[in-house]
Amino acid sequence: MCGIIGYLGPKDVVPLLIEGLKRMEYRGYDSAGVAVYDGKTLNTRRTPGKIAKLEAALAAAPLAGHVGIGHTRWATHGPPTEKNAHPHRSADGTVAVVHNGIIENANALRSALQELGYVFTSDTDTEVIAHLIQELFDGSLEEALLAALSKIEGTYGLAVMCDKDPNKIVAARKGSPLLIGVGVGENFLASDPSAILAHTRQVVYLDDGDIAVIERDSYRVIDAHATPMSRKVDRILWDLAEIERGGFDHFMLKEIFEQPTSVENTMRGRLILDDGTAKLGGLNLSHDELLHIDNVIITACGTSWHSALIGEMMIEELCRIPVEVEYASEFRYKNPIVTDRTLCIVMSQSGETADTLAAMREAKRRGARTLGFVNVVGSTIAREDDGGVYLHAGPEIGVASTKAFTSQVVALALFTLKLARKHDLSVVRGREIAQAMHHLPDQIRTVLESAKAIETIAEEFKDATNFLYLGRGYSFPTALEGALKLKEISYIHAEGYPAAEMKHGPIALIDEEMPVVFVAPHDAVFEKVVSNIQEVRARHGRTIVITSRDEPNLKGLIDYEIRIPETLDMLMPILAAVPLQLLAYYIAVKRGANVDQPRNLAKSVTVE
Ligand code: M6R
Repeated sequence: MCGIIGYLGPKDVVPLLIEGLKRMEYRGYDSAGVAVYDGKTLNTRRTPGKIAKLEAALAAAPLAGHVGIGHTRWATHGPPTEKNAHPHRSADGTVAVVHNGIIENANALRSALQELGYVFTSDTDTEVIAHLIQELFDGSLEEALLAALSKIEGTYGLAVMCDKDPNKIVAARKGSPLLIGVGVGENFLASDPSAILAHTRQVVYLDDGDIAVIERDSYRVIDAHATPMSRKVDRILWDLAEIERGGFDHFMLKEIFEQPTSVENTMRGRLILDDGTAKLGGLNLSHDELLHIDNVIITACGTSWHSALIGEMMIEELCRIPVEVEYASEFRYKNPIVTDRTLCIVMSQSGETADTLAAMREAKRRGARTLGFVNVVGSTIAREDDGGVYLHAGPEIGVASTKAFTSQVVALALFTLKLARKHDLSVVRGREIAQAMHHLPDQIRTVLESAKAIETIAEEFKDATNFLYLGRGYSFPTALEGALKLKEISYIHAEGYPAAEMKHGPIALIDEEMPVVFVAPHDAVFEKVVSNIQEVRARHGRTIVITSRDEPNLKGLIDYEIRIPETLDMLMPILAAVPLQLLAYYIAVKRGANVDQPRNLAKSVTVE
């Protein structure tokens, strides 16, 4: 979603802000802007559309200085136009504000400010903050911000500059991530570490309620009463290469091809082959606590919700503990049955998804123990959970989640293995699962060898207008994930269904125009899926079948076959997801879609 960057130091600020904004492009945005202090006054440039347009505006009317803030906006209040792009200025032009989040009492504040004579020039909720700070300013920008925040309700990651108190950026966080990048003779502010990774690895993650006062040679963090807060300096462990495309046409393709490594990294040091179990250091649950879990709730959104469905099956099958999977957006407003023996697993690549975070807080409030299965180190979910499992998949830049999904399933398998061995899973069965997991990276390499063949299939189906994805058992969530991948990046309507459920409605859609992707590895329900394939063929549907064996029963039923290696049923989604990702990717590329930044989508959805 929206991105924030700020800088104070010796460097020319404009190229630095633009570079930081470009590094956050993957998050999704529809307008961009910068504010720069030139030594005398504050000036802004803002444009709708991509950052290239902002660069063109800056080339036509350059700005220069050593202090500045920049923003990419994903429209919520008002369309993506120049007047709605951030930074927003106060009526007298002295204050510039960039903001992620939503000010809930913006209408009331707007009316009150209008009565004082303030004229609004945008449709945004953010503009009220700029005018409010102008109204409350009395010599100190941080004091004006504190006073303004006491009147604001809602969520925010905020950065503010003022040319009456010019050599500082003040920032505030409530519900929208922000961090300070600590340099030597320079300091940074960002909503995403990737924005500043080229300049410093030293970061201070702000907590909700923190206000930061950042100057060129120093920074301090205070609370709403101006009391100093102590915050530790963390180190970003990623390399710059990990957030660059490295010779691939798109981040999504790079991330698909990274999966042998990302899956290996999720398991590294955790899989204990001899004992058939897993070591997960961050759970913060004792042996007794693990044994006394009555039920598990897994909450998530989107792709993470699909991995949760796979986790549900694994845990119920091997640990015999009841599991419910809840859309985070629904869970947070329900009256769920949660006790102090409920374990709530919170799945999130970004660790910042607003609904997932709210669901976790609700589960916690009701007494559940929470475990975050999160990829982004230091993210809000990772910092607020009771314990967790980092995915270690490396930064995922493509908006369509790929390697995070396979790592989520691996992390859930590790957790299941550990929990099941504490219950009554035998060492023999535990070893069998651990061995099968150990082979996954090589097996993914084998699947990736089919990329060219899948590209040919994509050519055949690139003009389709609808797709059905069907699977049963562990392959049902995989089918859902395949359909989501296709629709989000190619804009082709696609639906995932349990294969047998097709007869109860979607079968009406099947004719010679309808491609149907079957996820049909040779697992416990394979024979049943063959019957479903026959039903589609009988109605002249076109079949693309992901299988794991040469199977006489399938002869004559398949238009296109994609072969994956055999593994345990519970691990099949990890292998079957890869060809589905490739199919979606190649179809989208052939349709000319912007694969890494699909329209209307954001990498992490930080609004409700
Ligand atoms: O960061 P999260 O895992 O919490 O994100 C959840 C969804 O927004 C995300 O998985 C989304 O569905 C992706 N675009 C799917 O590719």
